Amino acid sequence: MSAYLKQDEPDNVNRLDHMRQGVLGTDASRIEGLLKVTGTAPYAAEYQLDDCLEGVLVTATISKGEVTAIDADSVLSMPGVVAVIDDPSLTARAAQGTAGEAPAQPAREVGYFGQPIALVVAESFEQARDASKHLKVSYRADDDVAFDPEAVEAEPQDGATSQGDLAHAMKEAPFSVDVTYTTEGHSSAAMEPHAAIAQWDGDTLTVYASLQMLNYNISELADSLGLDEDKLRLVSRYVGGGFGSKLGVSEETVAASVAAMELGRPVRVAMLRQQVLQCIMRRSETRQRFRLAAGEDGKLTGFGHEARVSNLPGESFAEPVLQSSHFLYAGENRELSMEVARIHRMTAGSVRAPGEAVGMPALECAMDVLAEKCGLDPVELRLRNIPDRHPANGTPFSSHKLAECLKQGAEAFGWDSGPRSPRHTREGEWWVGTGMASAARVHNVGEAKARVTLKADGTALVETDMTDIGTGTYTILAQTVGEMLGLPVAKVLVELGDTHHPRGPGSGGSWGAASICSAAYLACLALRETLAKRADVAEEKLELKDGAVVGGASLIDLLDGRDLAEEGHYEPGDIADDFTASGFGAFFARVRVNRFTGETRVEHMTGAFGFGRVLNTKTARSQCLGGMTWSIGAALTEAMLFDPVDGHLANCDLAEYHVPVNRDVPDLDVVFVEERDGAASPIQAKGIGELGMCGGAGAIANAIYNACGARVFEFPMTPDKVL
Ligand code: MOS
Repeated sequence: MSAYLKQDEPDNVNRLDHMRQGVLGTDASRIEGLLKVTGTAPYAAEYQLDDCLEGVLVTATISKGEVTAIDADSVLSMPGVVAVIDDPSLTARAAQGTAGEAPAQPAREVGYFGQPIALVVAESFEQARDASKHLKVSYRADDDVAFDPEAVEAEPQDGATSQGDLAHAMKEAPFSVDVTYTTEGHSSAAMEPHAAIAQWDGDTLTVYASLQMLNYNISELADSLGLDEDKLRLVSRYVGGGFGSKLGVSEETVAASVAAMELGRPVRVAMLRQQVLQCIMRRSETRQRFRLAAGEDGKLTGFGHEARVSNLPGESFAEPVLQSSHFLYAGENRELSMEVARIHRMTAGSVRAPGEAVGMPALECAMDVLAEKCGLDPVELRLRNIPDRHPANGTPFSSHKLAECLKQGAEAFGWDSGPRSPRHTREGEWWVGTGMASAARVHNVGEAKARVTLKADGTALVETDMTDIGTGTYTILAQTVGEMLGLPVAKVLVELGDTHHPRGPGSGGSWGAASICSAAYLACLALRETLAKRADVAEEKLELKDGAVVGGASLIDLLDGRDLAEEGHYEPGDIADDFTASGFGAFFARVRVNRFTGETRVEHMTGAFGFGRVLNTKTARSQCLGGMTWSIGAALTEAMLFDPVDGHLANCDLAEYHVPVNRDVPDLDVVFVEERDGAASPIQAKGIGELGMCGGAGAIANAIYNACGARVFEFPMTPDKVL
């Protein structure tokens, strides 16, 4: 099937809704949950292979220059050491998150502190780690190295929008705001460190790795090894979080593969936690200026968003912070532009909700300043500025639930509407306040294939190389197929994360669920055609329930001893030609700020989200909770801190890079706003993974102001900034 489906029936009901199985859209628990909580689900580093060697990466200790020599002899006589791999392909950094890009750094050049330059391989992990610390590496270090994005000239990025006359609108407007926010770099900090085991049989390479996008990773790795894709098999059955950091193949996977092919034995390479933070891509820090002009009624007449981000020289990725600014709010005079500073920190790439994760909180803080100036309730200000169409290019929205999210979220939270003033409530040494923000995240989909087989025994099998990075993909696929074929979840076996299966869309950009379940849906429609013929009814009249045609033959009888397989192939058209498609939402937060220490505690948060069909209320809610938890980190604690002298990442472990822990995350409330989006995907679903953090930190920042009166312009809002 190509192109997206328009709303296929006037009342926006699609084939899935005719099934009435009650299998899809329930709170079904993860089908692999027991394996995970009992430690029996194998993650990449946990496969037990005979005769497996252990590799530890060696990383650069300069920020810019060249490796002039690697003295393998310095470690080869150490106990257990087998080899030093200093193949230049290790330094040709994998295109982490910038799908399809050739590495920008030529071999052996060092572009950042912590860049992998060699692999030490030994019989045991301890031996390899010990030797990795003794490997003698010589460098030629350049002294013209820039680490500070504010200290260099920046290049303008293509794609700026300029419409009307913003400067004039600012001058004429009764209310205007001109504010600048900064956000610090973020690390994906997935729970499972990057790891791979490679096994070479002289002809075919099998790699167990922790990856999000096998469909693309297989070509990427095959290219970097000079192998044909059909000689390579990637396996990622379970992935302990990705958040963008495993979109591309990174050095542990390349290194394990090169070593296994050279040494003829399986090789395992697991990054140390410090290495994950030092060499896996970061989210760029940002500086963002907003100019908002509004009339007496609070309606925007001007909207400006100018951003500065950074990346290594030559890298094409630039944190797309303008992404939702293009369409979220009205305003006929518009200026949106970006510039990129070239600095020597690790590659900047996709980290959870690239763009909106930091663009939306800053925008939503600026809107809070504007609401105050206009004397309007911040919810009301937003309601007055929802555009009917994309304000620059005029395309309609595929569906749009921002107003409903604002209203239902406010209601669930118990938002006090009306104009607000800070410092209204003090409890002992704590100021208490509330704040809100909108959420928006562009909707993406990707090409996807899945094979669904009805087995002769009446069970179903789903096969695709799609990954489940902790999001619930196994479960929603079983539910989609169960719903379409009249089977309970327990009768649907799902096999993921193996490139021997048809190509899925991978997990990233929140496109996974809608794309892969659409492929499974299409496979099931094809299966139903055959079953309907055999049952002698029209497909749309075929009612299946509990493994049988309702009032008719069982599936086992219809199959008559033979399996029946169909491959669903979902090929999205370019939805952007006809629609602006986005998930929307609203956040409400209550915080307390200590009047003596400036410490902020989030007391309660409500998120209301509209993202099309909800495939599983439990896993979707968990995605929202995860996003809101990221919001707490982005608002209060998460920041990559770089040494100003040599540019190394100073806080490269989870003791110093502060993600929220249980004690920081209060009771979070999630409201699903009913929505079907027939243009977004054949199953009318959009993404939810990232939406939950696209703006949430702004709600917390606005609550800090409402609590204690401090307008902070720097994220994260640590106590020193709040005081
Ligand atoms: Mo996405 S950046 O893979 O969370």
